[in-house]
Amino acid sequence: MTRFRAAEDGTPLPVVADYYAQRAGAGLIITEGIWPSRAGQSGWRMPGLETAEHIKGWQAVTEAVHAAGGRIFAQLMHGGRQGHPLSRLTADIPAGPSSVPVPGPVHVRDGGKADPVTPRVMTPEDIQQAVRDHVSAARNAIDAGFDGVELHGANSYLIHQFLADNTNLRDDEYGRRTIEDRIRFPVEVVTAVANAIGAERTGLRLSPGNPQFGMEEANPGPVYRALVGALDGLGLAYLHLTDNADYPALTDLRAHWHGVLIANVGENREPTSRADGDAVLLTGRADLVSYGRAFIANPDLPRRFEMNSVLNTIDADHLYTHGATGYTDYPLLDARAGSQQHAEPV
Ligand SMILES: Cc1cc2nc3c(=O)[nH]c(=O)nc-3n(C[C@H](O)[C@H](O)[C@H](O)COP(=O)(O)O)c2cc1C
Repeated sequence: MTRFRAAEDGTPLPVVADYYAQRAGAGLIITEGIWPSRAGQSGWRMPGLETAEHIKGWQAVTEAVHAAGGRIFAQLMHGGRQGHPLSRLTADIPAGPSSVPVPGPVHVRDGGKADPVTPRVMTPEDIQQAVRDHVSAARNAIDAGFDGVELHGANSYLIHQFLADNTNLRDDEYGRRTIEDRIRFPVEVVTAVANAIGAERTGLRLSPGNPQFGMEEANPGPVYRALVGALDGLGLAYLHLTDNADYPALTDLRAHWHGVLIANVGENREPTSRADGDAVLLTGRADLVSYGRAFIANPDLPRRFEMNSVLNTIDADHLYTHGATGYTDYPLLDARAGSQQHAEPV
């Protein structure tokens, strides 16, 4: 999850390795969103996977996680229209499927706020470049020791912008004329990455109908059924899916997806609890459950679930700051003290 702990050039700092290694007890760690190229940078001090320095920085992370017995996928997050010249190394206006700005104001570097900018419309060449950038970042992820990559098709970023009604007003073969056109970019980027690094190392995250950052999808069912159906035969590692209040994606798409299905059930609600996760698994709506905010606050979350222990609460004031405070200083459960005690800070 996005925490803005990278250096200004997008290289993950040593504290990032500490953070992920503390959470190696997860069955699988999926990292925060990482920009595949500077064109996709949507926030200052978000990490990248473009340069040799980035690869070196991530190598320290994957080595620390593997040494602690964990597995880790890199989430590739191209911001598309998200982003602002004040938050980008290129200092330019970001490009998206259409010239529709995010609702403002937007967060910019060093804690500032600014009016949103109207994105530049991606040309067909920009679209092909975005596919190539995802492939090259996925290869970099493997070089950096990641076990795979998750393509971020959820929560308002580039892939989602091609899928949603209001952010894709294009009339070309990547646009709104038909559902096949609307899903073309997502299918191309997932297929290209799967071909480059192996489908078994490639996952996809989707959040049909999620209105975050002004996304509008009046009728997600037909679009996402077509998308999931088009990808079903590729043999991807998994599909990671979030339900929406108005569209029960997990239930609706289950029949169209024969691979592993991960549910994220906490969007716009209380942090996902063990009971929430158990309910999804017991009703067969997914094979696995992802935990976000609870894992930020509890590096030993699986152990706490196992022991039915109390959970630390999240330090909301330090979600988007820099350094170790509120990042790597959450206490672990005391191994000797039973289920209700906390250990000294790590
Ligand atoms: C601080 C913060 C950062 C997030 N960053 C990302 C991100 O980089 N990529 C992503 O897919 N989702 C991101 N999310 C959404 C979470 O992955 C997740 O969907 C949400 O927190 C709900 O799950 P939970 O109830 O387990 O926290 C973020 C959420 C929060 C609160």
